[in-house]
Formats: sequence, structure tokens, C-alpha cells
Amino acid sequence: MAHHMIRKAVFPAAGMGTRFLPATKAIPKEMLCLVDKPLIQYGVEEAVAAGCTEIIIVTGRDKAAMEDHFDTSPELEAALAAKGKQALLDAVRSLSKLAKIVYTRQAEPLGLGHAILMAKELVGDEPFCVLLPDDIVDARVPCMKQMVEAFEETQASILASEVVEGPAISNYGCLDCTPDARNPRLMAVKGMVEKPRFEEAPSANAIIGRYILTPRIFEMIEGVKPGAGGELQLTDAIKALLQHEKVYGFRYEGKRHDAGDKLGFLKATVELALKREDLGPGFREWLKSVPL
Ligand code: G1P
Repeated sequence: MAHHMIRKAVFPAAGMGTRFLPATKAIPKEMLCLVDKPLIQYGVEEAVAAGCTEIIIVTGRDKAAMEDHFDTSPELEAALAAKGKQALLDAVRSLSKLAKIVYTRQAEPLGLGHAILMAKELVGDEPFCVLLPDDIVDARVPCMKQMVEAFEETQASILASEVVEGPAISNYGCLDCTPDARNPRLMAVKGMVEKPRFEEAPSANAIIGRYILTPRIFEMIEGVKPGAGGELQLTDAIKALLQHEKVYGFRYEGKRHDAGDKLGFLKATVELALKREDLGPGFREWLKSVPL
């Protein structure tokens, strides 16, 4: 395969967000905020930091809030400028300059594989990355940047992975893999299973929501039958890809938060707030006074 650059990032954002109702009745889950930034913005900034210049957001309903978030806002900008609020003005303006952002629709919630398939024409014949906005990875080097660097070595699909001990593995795609001799962070994938029963999980290596995929994945998605939960699973399509190409697991450096879960969302809020220069010290002091 010719040497490829990763330029495009796909964000599945069409879920109903039922776990966060009523908060997500009128706004998409991806617009829920950790401290002061919506989930989708964390992901988009990570993709841009990894070198992506085109962002493809696969939405269902209520995409207006997301579109407005990444659009220019002349009235707001004029008001901030008039008040001399330069830092806020910069923050608002930079959002519309992050990348080229395009939207496509997934009309029916038929699964993650199906959502990715909606981006087929927009991605075209080149490798691309996928970021699931629920997974927030806090890392010194952004997780997707680490993966793009690994891709320069492998030129093959790469799935971010983390060790999940115990029955919780049943909430994830799970890898059957062996260490790679060249790079201690890479694992050669032999097989995988979506949401296995604990007793049947091939390992404790869970797939987390960061992928680099080769374009052949689209053909594989078109070929798979509905899997776990009756949905077209991305995991099943990547498993089919294994028949044709190498696939790697990647042990990233960083900490993942599962912001798609209420408890995970709360933990992420606390940890990210504590790390903030402006809020951290005051928040830490206050936390010490909270009766536990
Ligand atoms: C999806 C994938 C699963 C992966 C997980 C990571 O599942 O299907 O393979 O482990 O994301 O967050 P979901 O969380 O959408 O059920």
C-alpha cells in the first residue's frame, strides 16, 4: 500500500442519548459539557491535533446545536468584542476555524458499523480515523496523535485498547491479540468479539472509542449481518477485515473517561476541573469541605 496520511475523522453522533434523559431531550448527548466544553469539541480538537483537516459528523436528530457550535456567530462575537472580552472572543472564534466540518445523517439507529458506513462517500478511498465522542482521553500527547504516529509504522488499521478487568469487559469489543515485537504499544490482532460474556472473553483487552481504519472497512460493513444487540457492529466488520489485512491493537498513553455513563461523566467532570489552572485550586479546597 502506498504511504498514506490521515486527513479525515469520522464522529458517530446519532445516538438518542437515552442514558442522559431528560438532559438530552432537546440537545444531542455530544453537546453535554465537561466543565465548559461539549464532549464533541474534545474529540474534534483531538482529531485536529492529530493532523486531521476534515471532520465528518454523523448525526441523527438535533444536529442544529452541533452545527451552531462549530459555526461563526457574528452577533456573539460583536458583543464580546464590544465588551473587550478578548479571551472569550478568541475561544469562540477559533471554534469556527478548527477544521472543515461536514455533517451527514444516519436516518435509523442501526448500529455503530452502520453509522460509519454513512461516511463512505465523504471519506473516499483513504484511511481515516473514528472517534467516539463518549470516550474522552486525557493524555499528554493526544490519543489520536499517538495512533497516527503508530500508523506511520504499520500502514494498517489500529484500534485503541485498554485493559478492563472482570465482568465489565462485557460492555466492550474485546481483542484476541499478541504483543508486537517492534513496538511495545502495538498488539497484532487475531480476532475480536463484540460485548462477549465474561467467561467467553478472549482477553481483558477492550477496544475503546478511537480507531484508524483502512477504506476497505466500508466493503466489510456492507457484508456483515446484524450482530450483538441486533445492530450492524463495527467490531464484526473489523473482524472480517482481518481476512484481508493486518489489524493492530494500540495501548495508548493516557487516561480514558467514559462520559457516556452518568458515573463516568461525573468522574470526568471532577478530574478535568481539578486539572484546570483557573478552577482547580478553588475546586480542590471546596471538595475537601464536602462531607463524605
Ligand atoms: C462501542 C463499540 C465497542 C467499544 C466501545 C468503546 O460500544 O461497539 O466495541 O468497545 O464503543 O467505548 P458502545 O459503547 O457504543 O456500546
